Amino acid sequence: MTATMRAIVCHRHGSPRDLVPGTAPVPVAGPGQVLIRVGACGINFPDLLLVEGKYQDRPPFPFIPGGEVAGTVERTGPGATCFAVGERVMATTMLGGLAEFVVAREADVEAIPAGVSPEAAAAFAGAWGTAWHALAQRGQLRPGETLLVLGAAGGTGIAAVQIGRVMGARVIAAAGSDDKLAFLSAQGADDVVNYRSTKLRDAVKVLTAGRGADVVFDPVGGAAFDEATRCVNWNGRLLVVGFASGVIPQFPVNLALLKGYAVVGVYYGRFREREPAAAATNMATLLGLLASGRLAPPVHAVFPLEQTGAALGCLADRAVMGKVVVSVTGR
Ligand SMILES: NC(=O)c1ccc[n+]([C@@H]2O[C@H](COP(=O)([O-])OP(=O)(O)OC[C@H]3O[C@@H](n4cnc5c(N)ncnc54)[C@H](OP(=O)(O)O)[C@@H]3O)[C@@H](O)[C@H]2O)c1
Repeated sequence: MTATMRAIVCHRHGSPRDLVPGTAPVPVAGPGQVLIRVGACGINFPDLLLVEGKYQDRPPFPFIPGGEVAGTVERTGPGATCFAVGERVMATTMLGGLAEFVVAREADVEAIPAGVSPEAAAAFAGAWGTAWHALAQRGQLRPGETLLVLGAAGGTGIAAVQIGRVMGARVIAAAGSDDKLAFLSAQGADDVVNYRSTKLRDAVKVLTAGRGADVVFDPVGGAAFDEATRCVNWNGRLLVVGFASGVIPQFPVNLALLKGYAVVGVYYGRFREREPAAAATNMATLLGLLASGRLAPPVHAVFPLEQTGAALGCLADRAVMGKVVVSVTGR
């Protein structure tokens, strides 16, 4: 094996389209870690924010972005016994995935279920893990309840749509174009709303006979959040997941009092750190649903490593339906 590898190395904050491929030393698997030969790397909104310098964490330069990968085990570090060399694995890495090799803690690695492609595996853990934690632990979503998903054609959004259906909810999916609505209907959403051309609160009230949604999943923030605050049912839960719009909204707390609902924060990364056993149980459930085909990440596009900037640009342009993946092997 060579000492250097192809990688997307970020030397300064800026536009994702300025990213160019370079080289970096092949990392070494330390105690309890595995070295993964990366086949595919899933792209998530935090990757874009990290490159732009807008994320809550700011890793020192130079860094390699890429937070979730699928590939094969190349080497195991001292004391790492859970995976065999050559085994197909997926891993959550936070950084380093947009490269030919990445190291991961064994605790962050899972075997890829048989029949699942590297692209689908690389697209899965972050978004579906976030949505499951949001809807199960934070939202306490129950069968028969109505779930409203904002930004529903995006990564966490489509995961919430699929998981809401698996949990037995009626799913209202909101997105910003009619193409996205057609995609969401094909993905199993019960009702769809274009929240750019329609006032969201009015549409949801009509669809719920004036009651509002029991659970709202909001990865968008800004004006979409403001609208959602007006269509939550009594005893409802408004889940604060993210701010893809770039605007962190303000919440008038009198609404929580008057309407009798809760505003609930969701932070999947912190949940995994603080409640690893519960997070592992969630992931085991999710992998079972992935293996059975009841959950399946829709892969919008696969870009070669050299076009990582264009892959990230799709997220910035609100152009993604499902997930974007970078193929490192050039498949
Ligand atoms: N809390 C957590 O644990 C957690 C975990 C993962 C991600 N997140 C956060 O959740 C947010 C969404 O992540 P994601 O992976 O779902 O992103 P994504 O795949 O890019 O989807 C975001 C959606 O937001 C909508 N949007 C509205 N205004 C936008 C704008 N100005 N730029 C881009 N998109 C815009 C777009 O839908 P329309 O065009 O249809 O409106 C888009 O489909 C991010 O803020 C991310 O950091 C939080």
